[in-house]
Amino acid sequence: MNALDLIKADHERLKKLFDDALANDDTDARASVVHAIRAELKAHERIKEDVFYPALRAAGPEAKEIMLEGYEEHHIIDVILGELVGVPEDAEVWQAKLKVLRENLDRHMQEEEEMFTRARKALSQETLEEIGVKMQRAKESAAP
Ligand SMILES: [Fe+2]
Repeated sequence: MNALDLIKADHERLKKLFDDALANDDTDARASVVHAIRAELKAHERIKEDVFYPALRAAGPEAKEIMLEGYEEHHIIDVILGELVGVPEDAEVWQAKLKVLRENLDRHMQEEEEMFTRARKALSQETLEEIGVKMQRAKESAAP
């Protein structure tokens, strides 16, 4: 499993969950989708921070900058997500908060994907495969 393919697949899954959440006004369904988003995001952030970002440090100053911004973006995403969990699913603000979360996440994912070309140049195919395997393992051990 190539690390970049794994990240891309995570991103697609997250987008799909957000689409489901935003399309739903049933409060129980909203709660369970947010629960799923939370689990997915936590696992995603963890494998990025534990495995992918440290490997990126070696990929040159620009990749390092994106990596450092990545940590900060994760932080913002966690803050909004933490607030969303505390908002009743039938509250007016629920949808607005979820949308802002999605906008932040979209931007974060887009920046990460723009960096893929650079990562491919700096890291060999073999290394990307090794990182991918490590990420997959970390993900499995983080699963509830
Ligand atoms: Fe990320």
